[in-house]
Amino acid sequence: MPPPFPPGSLFLAPMVALSHRPLRTLTREFGGLDYACTEMASAAALVSGSPYDEWYLDPEPCPERTILQFYTVKPERLVEALERCASLPVFGADINFGCSAPHIERAGGGVAWMADPSRAAELVRLARAAWPKPLSAKLRIGPEEDYTALRDFCLRLVGAGLDFLTLHPRLKSEKLRRSSRWDYVASLARELPIPVIGNGDVRSYADYRDKLEACRPAGIMIGREAVRRPWIFALIRGREADPAFELEVDLEATAYRMLELIEGQLPPDFHLTRARRFFFYYCDNFSFAHHIKWKTQNAPNLEAIRAELAAYFVEVPADRRKRQQS
Ligand SMILES: Cc1cc2nc3c(=O)[nH]c(=O)nc-3n(C[C@H](O)[C@H](O)[C@H](O)COP(=O)(O)O)c2cc1C
Repeated sequence: MPPPFPPGSLFLAPMVALSHRPLRTLTREFGGLDYACTEMASAAALVSGSPYDEWYLDPEPCPERTILQFYTVKPERLVEALERCASLPVFGADINFGCSAPHIERAGGGVAWMADPSRAAELVRLARAAWPKPLSAKLRIGPEEDYTALRDFCLRLVGAGLDFLTLHPRLKSEKLRRSSRWDYVASLARELPIPVIGNGDVRSYADYRDKLEACRPAGIMIGREAVRRPWIFALIRGREADPAFELEVDLEATAYRMLELIEGQLPPDFHLTRARRFFFYYCDNFSFAHHIKWKTQNAPNLEAIRAELAAYFVEVPADRRKRQQS
């Protein structure tokens, strides 16, 4: 079966409190992004009518290119959640098999599914029956460095009806500081009969090109760098078409645009936490990153964040606009 997306497609990773509609809107305004995941939503919370899940699963601004990501502990809850979302005009749904946050794993969600391949395959089989659109899964390597176990686990999911998967090649216990192991992506991409997307540590056009050439995944997913530089997808596509391509980015206008999107598209309860989380990464673009990061992380509201940014750009005008080449 042909992949449900063009080869080399670029995906925005699911990230709690980051891959919301404002970030997806901002990256789409720069261009270059093919598909975007929502942040992970709890299937059980959705079906029990939690007030926040409609925000987690808001598929705008481009529903037909949005993948809803769910984590679940019980198969029935995922089936109900998928049935509830069946009328949304989205691209697909993804099952989280990779989250290693202790409270999720202890409850039996995320990476805990990898300990029981039969049960995980049954979950995919039930989800497949409930969801007529592309169905994917996002995984880590698992509890230990065992390629055969990982491949066999993936083959069980394929047999149960999965359309494609994303591998974030770290062990379940590994923090994001440790380098990802892309040789696992290469092996899975070679051996599985479905498309495999690679994810982890792609921070530039060179990373994208090198990983695509060396490991041959069907697509590349980017997480943190898309928060630091929401123009990364546009830069990759620009460089692909023209090696001399560069972008002149208005860092100041982009910062204010994000605040405007957060205020306009998210409920007030989310404003401060989401703005802080975004600026935690975005401030890496600045010459005095540590200073402005501290200021934005400690500001009490969005107005104060805006004021800290304005003061910073008066002090360091050279940071207002920067040329981006790589
Ligand atoms: C703040 C944060 C939240 C995350 N939330 C999720 C999530 O909801 N679902 C998921 O599958 N992975 C989640 N991840 C993992 C990312 O999707 C991705 O696999 C990881 O960041 C590695 O990619 P990167 O190096 O491009 O950032 C999260 C990562 C971060 C940093």
